[in-house]
Amino acid sequence: MEPTIARLVDELLDRATGRDSFDVLAELASPLPVAVICRMLGVPLADEPLFRRWSAQLTRLVDGLTPAGDTSGEAPEWLQGMIEMHRYVNDLIADRRAHPGGEDLISELLAAEDGGDRLSHDELVSTVVLLLVAGHETTVNLIANGVLALVRHRDRLAALRADPGLAPAVVEEVLRYDPPVQLTARVATEDMRVGELVVPERSMVILLLAAAHRDPDANPDPDRFDPHRSEIRHLGFGFGAHFCLGAPLARLEGRIALTRFAQRVQEPGLTADPPPYREHVNLRGPREVPITHAGAIR
Ligand code: HEM
Repeated sequence: MEPTIARLVDELLDRATGRDSFDVLAELASPLPVAVICRMLGVPLADEPLFRRWSAQLTRLVDGLTPAGDTSGEAPEWLQGMIEMHRYVNDLIADRRAHPGGEDLISELLAAEDGGDRLSHDELVSTVVLLLVAGHETTVNLIANGVLALVRHRDRLAALRADPGLAPAVVEEVLRYDPPVQLTARVATEDMRVGELVVPERSMVILLLAAAHRDPDANPDPDRFDPHRSEIRHLGFGFGAHFCLGAPLARLEGRIALTRFAQRVQEPGLTADPPPYREHVNLRGPREVPITHAGAIR
């Protein structure tokens, strides 16, 4: 995917940097992950705007905290989006089944077997929808939070511009310092003790990943954004059996987007600091990141 992602990032930056100021969220961070996942799934270009709309509608759902108290009787927007998207993916899979042999992910999932066991149609639909739902807003926030950290720390921005080899460390440090996913949950399978706290079997535990990242015993001087630290310890993609399936893709998108931003956008400055944030609890990211700049390098 690397050349495809690099081309997409450059096209988005070409368009955005034609003006003296632009919104990094609307013009780079948000369109990139949808475009990438659509290319992976082999969604026709003309249908990409549909996916963009659905992922915007699903943002509340992904946060895990849907607004309560809606008594209008109408299906909420996210549910409409979810239904439309399931229908679309259903048809897409039927089409791939009728025309096998493609190189997109759906065709490969159709061909995949595990010990003679194939994914059922419904499992395939759910899997494809999950890829978009789990992978969109999280990656948007990685890029947006990363741009914010770099613009606020000019020396780090300059270091990345001078040495693109620093990109993997920059991405890991963003995942630690300002993680797109702030918390996750588990159910205790047995009585256990965490420090002073007794956790009874079958109770739910909310794990504040973002707070663990700022534990000075885990990361010395944790409030400093420093990609050069000797070890970057984080749980930004979770841990164990449910470790993020999309981590390699998210890392790749983050590395390319942040490196190209550093290399191409001259003297970026925030017009609002802090920018406005989404009203989310778990997924942390700004609603917009308006910046000014002093020109672009092609
Ligand atoms: C920076 C971007 C991303 C972040 C921060 C992120 C974060 C996470 C975290 C924390 C979990 C674990 C949840 C838990 O343990 O309870 C997770 C799981 C998952 N992620 Fe991501 N994710 C990102 C991008 C993606 C992408 C791009 C995809 C797909 C293309 C994806 C697909 C998934 C899936 C399918 C799971 C569930 C895995 C399982 O339960 O076995 N994620 N992600």
